[in-house]
Amino acid sequence: MKPKVFISAPIPKEVEDYIGQYCDYRIWNKKEAIPSEILAKEVADVEGLMTKKGAIDKAFLEKAPQLKVVSTISVGYDSFDTDAMKEKNVLGTHTPFVLDETVADLVFGLILSAARRLPELDRWVKEGQWGKEKSSERNFGVDVHHTTLGIIGMGRIGEKIARRAALGFEMNVLYNSHSRKPEAEEKYGAQYSDVDALLGASDFVVVMLPLNQETHHYIGEEQFNLMKPDSIFINCARGQVVDEKALVQALQQKKIRGAGLDVFEVEPVEQDNPLLKMDNVVTLPHIGSATHDTRFDMAMRAAENLVAGVTGKVPPDVVRELKGLIER
Ligand code: DGY
Repeated sequence: MKPKVFISAPIPKEVEDYIGQYCDYRIWNKKEAIPSEILAKEVADVEGLMTKKGAIDKAFLEKAPQLKVVSTISVGYDSFDTDAMKEKNVLGTHTPFVLDETVADLVFGLILSAARRLPELDRWVKEGQWGKEKSSERNFGVDVHHTTLGIIGMGRIGEKIARRAALGFEMNVLYNSHSRKPEAEEKYGAQYSDVDALLGASDFVVVMLPLNQETHHYIGEEQFNLMKPDSIFINCARGQVVDEKALVQALQQKKIRGAGLDVFEVEPVEQDNPLLKMDNVVTLPHIGSATHDTRFDMAMRAAENLVAGVTGKVPPDVVRELKGLIER
């Protein structure tokens, strides 16, 4: 008999067919998120769950007593309560590697958009303002090339950003991370720096930290106070890594020049969020990995993790905190 699994969001047909070869599966195929009561019923008898969001905590795990593996179609796994999963012997997997280049591309999209004011000026042209105003200086932005980029959180994506920065834009790269990155230092001239010095020296600050207890509100008032008044802040990681009120204040008080944000403390972002009223802030709807190819690769990678987890094999991408479960 094939193991039972539930897929809680639509996925490409090819990925669904792959899962179908090994598992007896049910899928939530609607665009809107699955209501929690339905999810609770669907997971009552399954050994595997493939998901995109939604807390996997103690209360959830009690509803899914047969569960062996939860495979999230994302690199971030802040929805996992890894202590509760460890206690219940449930593996958690994610999708690293396949999205690194795509997210790094978007970080540069945000850097360029904020520095050269692309969305603001696009609106201005479409509204028929071009030619009405005599001073061309009103459209000036700031340079990206040959400036200094500070990367806080130098994981795989951070290194891809550093490569683009150093080799493409000839930027000086500073970084902070748990560990030194000799390859980035050698190939891209990236210099390790403590966070305060990095904030004080960078023209662009990119935060690329995963969200966990240590990184919640990692960037707040104190950090914005250290940044240069002409600097631009970029967040493509998780909204809660930044104290959003402090960011709003820093922008209002011109402690920094602007921001490029793909993520927010509350998502979808609330319409009365002051950041949405600021022309010097570029806002995106959490699309770091959202290209056709990359989202396909993420779904396939998540499917491989799911299938391995319910067929007695070691899934390739067990999250760091739960690796102990496969080492036993
Ligand atoms: C990820 O993979 O973590 C992206 O942010 C999409 O959620």
